[in-house]
Amino acid sequence: MTVSPVDRLRTEVWVPPDKSISHRAFIFNAIATGRATITSPLDSADVRSTVGCLQRLGVEIDWPAGSGQATIDGRGLHGLAEAEDILDCGNSGTSMRLLAGLLAAQPMLSILTGDDSLRSRDMSRVVSPLRQLGATIQGRKGDTRAPLVVRGGNLQGMTYDTPMASAQVKSALLLAGLYAPAGVTVREPSKSRDHSERMLAEMGATMRTDGSSVSIGPCAKLSALSLRVPGDISSAAPWLVLGACHPDAEVVLRGVNVNPTRTGLLDILHAMGARLELLEERSVGGEPVADIVVRTSSLRGITVEGGVVPRAIDELPLVAVLGCCAEGETIVRDASELAVKESNRIEAVVRVLGRFGATVTPRADGFVVRGPQSLRGANADAGGDHRIGMLAGIAGLLAKEGETRVTNDAVGVSYPGFWDELLRAAAG
Ligand code: S3P
Repeated sequence: MTVSPVDRLRTEVWVPPDKSISHRAFIFNAIATGRATITSPLDSADVRSTVGCLQRLGVEIDWPAGSGQATIDGRGLHGLAEAEDILDCGNSGTSMRLLAGLLAAQPMLSILTGDDSLRSRDMSRVVSPLRQLGATIQGRKGDTRAPLVVRGGNLQGMTYDTPMASAQVKSALLLAGLYAPAGVTVREPSKSRDHSERMLAEMGATMRTDGSSVSIGPCAKLSALSLRVPGDISSAAPWLVLGACHPDAEVVLRGVNVNPTRTGLLDILHAMGARLELLEERSVGGEPVADIVVRTSSLRGITVEGGVVPRAIDELPLVAVLGCCAEGETIVRDASELAVKESNRIEAVVRVLGRFGATVTPRADGFVVRGPQSLRGANADAGGDHRIGMLAGIAGLLAKEGETRVTNDAVGVSYPGFWDELLRAAAG
């Protein structure tokens, strides 16, 4: 994709539906009782991976491309069928980790695999607690890498302290906990996104939340839950950063999920001095939603650390772009999880912004940027990581001069219309 700097930016964007909520709407409804209609699920490669796996497990899902609506006939808690073949999660960590939790409770054999990136990612973070809970799971490299072979059933109960804040690990354990006679409690070092808790509670699961600890009890049934999926703040993020950094911009983002466990980037933008307005706050699909307006801002460097990190985890690479536009030093720390995403996002940010002429200094748990630094157009390889692809795209619009070519961008994983929308915005 080729993009060029623009002098003036005025645009309004309906951001695509939330990826995390879309995965959960399909997975939870697959084991519910009754038929659910999901309005505007995210139609991206990752969510289609989850749906493909569920269909192999015998779940009837009707989701014609372009329809904006899916129906799922829930099989009940005990109605999944053993798949005839392996389950391919593609690039999607959420699919693999949540399904590992669900399948750990099913008395049958399942094999989960994925693409090169997913097969290189650590799965011991779910394998180890699920084994403690009683499941039999094996994988490559000492049971740390997919393919994972899961022989489920016979779960007990447990309280588990997760070493990292991870909604994928938490959700895997909550799914398994639905089938654990003694229930499951997950305690996180700091609270990760809570879409699973919201949705499962709405479907009738027995749940209790206390700060960053959540408990689930065994459950007789989940009721099917029809919902509309709100817009994804992680897809709004490149626009928020573009609007704040650009010298002449006003960007309006419609229908953005502003669940407080996801709004770390808004807090970071506020702390850096960005001009942001939240309008029309409302509720969609059991989640808070707002329109957001962002305008050209004078930014100052800050330190991003602690509890805000999991609340902005997928947006942190973009904080490096904010750091380039800000006065002074921007530090991101406590974010070693960035190194184990779809790619090593600490390395990726240093490498890709380096191509644009910016210096970002890596740390084991984040990075440091001393701003302001001007960007110039570049040839940037996003390394097959969608978030890095979008970062490179907006860096191209923010460049002082020169064309940018982004390759290997993978944006279809979470935001299939990103380039069209960016080019539309650039064309005014
Ligand atoms: C997700 C949780 C986060 C996030 C990922 C989606 C989810 O991962 O990075 O994009 O839907 O639960 P971790 O659980 O590894 O933090």
